[in-house]
Amino acid sequence: MQLIHSVPELRARLANEKAVAFVPTMGNLHEGHIELVRIARQQGSCVVVSVFVNPLQFGPNEDFDKYPRTLDADCEKLRGLADVVFAPAVADMYPEQQTLFVEPPPIASELCGEFRPGHFRGMATVVLKLFNLAQPQVAIFGKKDYQQLAIIRQMVTQFNLPITIVGAETSRAADGLALSSRNQYLSLQERTEAAFLSQTLRGMGEALKKGAGDYLALEREAGAALAKRGWGVEYVSVRKQSDLGVPTKGDRKLVIVAAARLGKTRLIDNLDVCL
Ligand code: PAF
Repeated sequence: MQLIHSVPELRARLANEKAVAFVPTMGNLHEGHIELVRIARQQGSCVVVSVFVNPLQFGPNEDFDKYPRTLDADCEKLRGLADVVFAPAVADMYPEQQTLFVEPPPIASELCGEFRPGHFRGMATVVLKLFNLAQPQVAIFGKKDYQQLAIIRQMVTQFNLPITIVGAETSRAADGLALSSRNQYLSLQERTEAAFLSQTLRGMGEALKKGAGDYLALEREAGAALAKRGWGVEYVSVRKQSDLGVPTKGDRKLVIVAAARLGKTRLIDNLDVCL
């Protein structure tokens, strides 16, 4: 496994690769990321993992400064799994001030986008830059970031990028909590409570499957149940899997998406529901 920091070195290393499978990350790798890398191994002959905490996708009051940076430990975890780890500095990714951006689709201002203005614009911009650098044939993203994945799929389609996007199932702890680097911000007590988010989504999923058709009522009930236990609920919403639009009666492929804060930690989760 080769650790590369600079753009010219990355380009030189990948110049003759014909089947790059790419996993973009912000590092602090957990089992969920490692699963993405295992999937990448099945998809390409050269597995590239990027580790870059992208300032462009963090709001002024978010956790950019405290986001855990653990490159040495990340490289240890990737040894034997990845061929290249690309870990650029901010100046490598943004050698001049970024004045051009990917303008994400309207869905980017709903759900997480409503609470994290500019997040998806910064995310899509860095992902496009990383795609241009790694020039992968396949890129793997976790379904935990459902809205991110939907926006990347649209970007790839609408910009005619010759990249197959693979969405990987969410890796979970034994109690159902979706794995996330941000879980480590949770206190012990919060960590126990955190499983309630996925439980809530599963409860909603069962209700939908039993025929509950008033999505707004379900969302309100779930939000109230979370709030009662001290969660700061941003949204709980039933959407269409295809484009995250609001479903109408005939839509059968649904996803429940949610974001809520436990103390200072913001958690997101989702559940696909096929009726
Ligand atoms: O999902 C993430 O970790 C980030 O949003 C990504 C895709 C690496 C872009 O910075």
